[in-house]
Amino acid sequence: MADTLTITDNRTGKQYEVPVAEGGVIRATDLRQIKTDKDDAGLMTYDPAFMNTAACRSRITYIDGDKGILEYRGYPIDQLAEHSTYLETAYLIMFGELPTDAQLKTWTQDITLHTMLHENIKKLMEGYQYDAHPMGVFLSTVGAFSTFYPDAKQIFDEQSRKKQIHRLIAKVPTIAAYAYRHSIGRPYNNPDNDLSFSGNFLNMLFKMTELKYKVNPVLERALDILFILHADHEQNCSTTAMRVIGSSQADPYSAMAGAAAALYGPLHGGANEAVLRMLKEIGSIDNVPGFIKRVKGGEGTRLMGFGHRVYKSYDPRAKIIKKTAYEVFEVTGKNPLLDIALELERIALEDEYFVSRKLYPNVDFYSGLIYQAMGFPVEMFAVLFAIARTVGWVAQWEEMLLDPETKIARPKQLYEGATTRDYIPMSNR
Ligand code: ACO
Repeated sequence: MADTLTITDNRTGKQYEVPVAEGGVIRATDLRQIKTDKDDAGLMTYDPAFMNTAACRSRITYIDGDKGILEYRGYPIDQLAEHSTYLETAYLIMFGELPTDAQLKTWTQDITLHTMLHENIKKLMEGYQYDAHPMGVFLSTVGAFSTFYPDAKQIFDEQSRKKQIHRLIAKVPTIAAYAYRHSIGRPYNNPDNDLSFSGNFLNMLFKMTELKYKVNPVLERALDILFILHADHEQNCSTTAMRVIGSSQADPYSAMAGAAAALYGPLHGGANEAVLRMLKEIGSIDNVPGFIKRVKGGEGTRLMGFGHRVYKSYDPRAKIIKKTAYEVFEVTGKNPLLDIALELERIALEDEYFVSRKLYPNVDFYSGLIYQAMGFPVEMFAVLFAIARTVGWVAQWEEMLLDPETKIARPKQLYEGATTRDYIPMSNR
């Protein structure tokens, strides 16, 4: 017998039986039959912030927050970080399987061939103020792509979708690098298609007068690992924005501009910037106990980079990032803020306040230290996140489009405003 849930409505004494699907899920619309009388619209659920509502089915990313598990298409994140590259992982996220050698070569070529930006996009970017925040430049340039590639409107044409996906994954590092170069008043560097995805990004960011940029293999690999770790994270705020906008059948550039805007917010993509500010403010190891005391005092000070809505144990990405940080510091020299971070972590992991609330380091606790050591200004941190997350956004967007259950996203509301009343002429107000 299939699993069911029996509901007794104590308002009417009536009983209802609703099916419980695999995973312990009931359909919210099954509650609509529960009415007090024939004029009642039926029972609804109220769930601001989607705390307990699944809005889609997905086969892309699996998270078990209690056990600290993150998998893309079934592959554990630590194995991908150790053995894979960003482009291989991007293929896996997009298509569901690891590529063969031939498939990876074709995929790499498809991406590499799309790294250049249209000259008019460069002109558009030149119009921003010299101190424009690179994330603002990034999201508006992605949105502007829809005017350059009107074929992107053919969202139900598989070939067209493929092309936009290649363009997006390939061009986001170029936009990000140009946004950075613009902010420091330096000329843009063209993509170098002989280099890897991450190597080319470093080239576009940091090449000066040399004819060929020499990529440091340790930094190239570290950046690739950071991109792998941020490539997808199931139904987070920005991915939900991508799916919601995409459900109106907008083109992927417009939808992704919205997703990037969601990532811009300090509660989402901006947390690693906040970690660095906090470490700077603490200033020295001697001040760590005092800072922890303040956090525990409950006056609103938080230990940034700690805690997570989903992970209630060590964020598996934080472990990998910590190891990567040491490899990067071998090349760049140690970020002086590292000792403060290590001491904060040591004390917090032993402290009853953090242990009882299951607060562990999240992905952002160490990533900012690496980015800063590599020479990125803090304003670029969210942009780096956006580059990596692009594949997650487009994979989730395509999955949403091809899902037969997809309809335009349209939540309900609980109306609490004025009841019907007559218009009052200006002279009587
Ligand atoms: N420092 C101190 N106390 C904390 C912290 C923290 N970083 N995080 C949570 N707590 C405490 C809360 O005060 C609360 O305590 P209480 O029960 O005594 O009131 C308890 O732990 C539960 O916290 P909530 O805010 O209810 O947890 P929620 O799941 O809503 O928040 C969040 C998760 C936003 C990530 C939170 O832990 C936080 O603010 N962390 C710092 C910011 C941060 O690092 N964000 C990056 C997240 S990763 C990402 O987005 C890529």
